[in-house]
Amino acid sequence: MKRILITGGGGYVGSALVPHLINKGYHVTVLDWFLYKKNIFDQYSKDKFNKIVGDLRNLEDLKKSLSSVDAVIHLACISNDPSAELNPKLSIDINQNAFKLLLEESRKAKLKRFIFASSSSIYGISDSPQVYEDHPRVPVSLYNISKAWCEDLLYNEYKDIPFTIIRPATICGYAERLRLDLAVNLLTSHCIQNKKISIFGGDQYRPNLHIKDMVNLYSYFLEIEEEKVLHQVFNASYNNFTINEIAEEIINELKPKIGNILVENIKSNDPRSYRVNTDKLNSIGFKPKYTIKHASRDLLEAFNSGKVEESVTSPIYNNVLMMKSQNIS
Ligand SMILES: NC(=O)c1ccc[n+]([C@@H]2O[C@H](COP(=O)([O-])OP(=O)(O)OC[C@H]3O[C@@H](n4cnc5c(N)ncnc54)[C@H](O)[C@@H]3O)[C@@H](O)[C@H]2O)c1
Repeated sequence: MKRILITGGGGYVGSALVPHLINKGYHVTVLDWFLYKKNIFDQYSKDKFNKIVGDLRNLEDLKKSLSSVDAVIHLACISNDPSAELNPKLSIDINQNAFKLLLEESRKAKLKRFIFASSSSIYGISDSPQVYEDHPRVPVSLYNISKAWCEDLLYNEYKDIPFTIIRPATICGYAERLRLDLAVNLLTSHCIQNKKISIFGGDQYRPNLHIKDMVNLYSYFLEIEEEKVLHQVFNASYNNFTINEIAEEIINELKPKIGNILVENIKSNDPRSYRVNTDKLNSIGFKPKYTIKHASRDLLEAFNSGKVEESVTSPIYNNVLMMKSQNIS
């Protein structure tokens, strides 16, 4: 399995995954709008990398992307709650309708593997001490509803495709296309920039996964024997912390390096709270290694070494701001 298509590979996860897979000897094709970093991956020659600046909704772009690939990792989507709510019709078009189109074309491509990035936020609100993969999904936003819709579509209509579903926790840590709109990254950037953080609520559980573990997991899933993952769904998370505990981890890591950090608690109306269980993932031999502390340390290093080139409020680090600044219909 040598030739991989990553849809949405120009985004946060893709910006770490593409170099990782190329370094492992894969040939990688990326289909993406490339909104966030236009020149990303330009260092790679054609024998290693194929850049397709295009749209997931466009049949010709899909056909071009899928020609002679062995596997697909599907990341492209309007990828958080608030940016999906900005234009619900567009979000459904991309997150659901284009997904169906991708599956139709993937079926013809006779793939060896198709990995779908769902989300552990699909569980919504749950008081269960542990949420296993068969726990009822209670999607509480358009973004989550679309992820659930795609999962169902795979099982109901596309079982001839050798798919695997991953439900990652919220990802954290530095990557070339950085997102500062995700819990750990946002809190860390506020600590570094303002020496102050605001915590909305605090008791909600937010499982996290370091981006290096996310990337290792995708490549693990490309390489593992098919029978262990075929038509399976896997939670992927490092641990279950509340927002208050996440803040504490970050502060404990950064305080010795940057000094005191002020904490402000604010009431929140964001109800999402879930604790995911990862026994199933562990049972096939994958255990995440990196912590929230690693993520905030990496981010501090990135800020200190000038890798965070724009102002932290720039749309290139924030999906809602980027979608607002574009005229995509
Ligand atoms: N980041 C997280 O915390 C997290 C957690 C769980 C699941 N996921 C899932 O993992 C995947 C990757 O997340 P991410 O953080 O890298 O997101 P991201 O927003 O950084 O990347 C998504 C990419 O998809 C591209 N894209 C969107 N619509 C497109 C279209 N119509 N045509 C072409 N390109 C299009 C965007 O340009 C972007 O580069 C997403 O499916 C997301 O839902 C992410």
